[in-house]
Amino acid sequence: MTMLATLTKAYQGKTILLTGHTGFKGSWLALWLTLLGANVVGFSLRPPSEPALFNLLGLANRLYASVIGDIRQPEVVRAIFQQYHPDVVFHLAAQALVRRSYTAPHETFETNVMGTLNVLDACLNTPETQVVVNITSDKCYENVEQDYAYQETDPMGGYDPYSASKGCAELLTASYRKSFFAPLGKALASARAGNVIGGGDWAMDRLIPDCVRSLAANQPIVIRSPKAIRPWQHVLEPLAGYLTLGQHLIYGSADKAAFQTGWNFGPKPASALDVETVVRQVIHCWGSGNYQVDTEPKPHEAHLLQLDITKAERELGFTPVLSAEDAIDWTVAWYQAYYRGAHVMTDMTELQLNNYMKRMESASLAMVTG
Ligand SMILES: NC(=O)c1ccc[n+]([C@@H]2O[C@H](COP(=O)([O-])OP(=O)(O)OC[C@H]3O[C@@H](n4cnc5c(N)ncnc54)[C@H](O)[C@@H]3O)[C@@H](O)[C@H]2O)c1
Repeated sequence: MTMLATLTKAYQGKTILLTGHTGFKGSWLALWLTLLGANVVGFSLRPPSEPALFNLLGLANRLYASVIGDIRQPEVVRAIFQQYHPDVVFHLAAQALVRRSYTAPHETFETNVMGTLNVLDACLNTPETQVVVNITSDKCYENVEQDYAYQETDPMGGYDPYSASKGCAELLTASYRKSFFAPLGKALASARAGNVIGGGDWAMDRLIPDCVRSLAANQPIVIRSPKAIRPWQHVLEPLAGYLTLGQHLIYGSADKAAFQTGWNFGPKPASALDVETVVRQVIHCWGSGNYQVDTEPKPHEAHLLQLDITKAERELGFTPVLSAEDAIDWTVAWYQAYYRGAHVMTDMTELQLNNYMKRMESASLAMVTG
């Protein structure tokens, strides 16, 4: 069976609870799951930005249900599970910004740790919920600031509150898996991915949204940390990883336990580029623009974060299909369509999703035929 057929078989007709569905990654994943035939129940706060991909895709009317609520409130989380009885949960809701975590550390830990706890408790109390994928981050690892690609067995850590909260969410996941999920025969895994780019992200203090806001306003792009190296990947790459992981948890049968761990979903090593190189390519794709470097002192940010994805490649058949250059091209093309006036972005987003699935399919066929 081809990869796409396998994903469709895994998700079609299933009730999927997706937390964080109003956010950047959650909106792409909600659309993808819908195209695979799943009944998607979204649960999140209101979209975190204006504009928001969630609104541009009309997801409020397209999903099986879209519920606005706070994962920090256990009784609210419990009620969603009692109402919809999800088969599978993808937990993405989070305070997802490093810089904000310095000004709002309590909100960050409450959302990313206690919110996750509430979601996991509700999963345990819902008999139908058999598969849970908790989305954390590459920043969950103790960063040794060296030229090193993190493996799943490396220690958790985190300097800034966001990173530490994701390290905590990983420890929580491991504890709950051993203490409660495994004895009940329920599957719980975590997924760690790095910086993602793609159309529809308008978060503050993220490079590509900052770039397109400046370019659309004919202003110079202001960059901090121009030499910081990041593993750039298109948003669809880790989402493909999450879906593939979920599918293995659904069909793992005897091997199910082998998939209930943490998984890295990063790009190939060649996709690690410094910020300045990325900004130059964004300007090139946009067709005009310039940039300047912000020399103001800034809070600590990790300088080098790369993930070793050998385990996901070998055991899940996950493989990145877009280079960093492709990812930047697709992203800029998406924003150009938006800033030229296309205020319903369904066609462009579905086009990119379908193109991505075709690439996934070719890559999986190439893997099978050697
Ligand atoms: N975007 C990236 O580069 C990146 C990198 C690594 C990991 N991640 C992780 O992926 C996930 C999604 O990230 P994103 O970029 O889409 O973030 P985002 O900020 O665009 O979306 C966050 C989502 O979480 C929801 N949310 C926040 N607080 C909530 C609360 N208290 N209750 C209910 N919902 C709440 C928001 O409403 C939104 O739907 C997060 O867990 C994030 O930590 C993102």
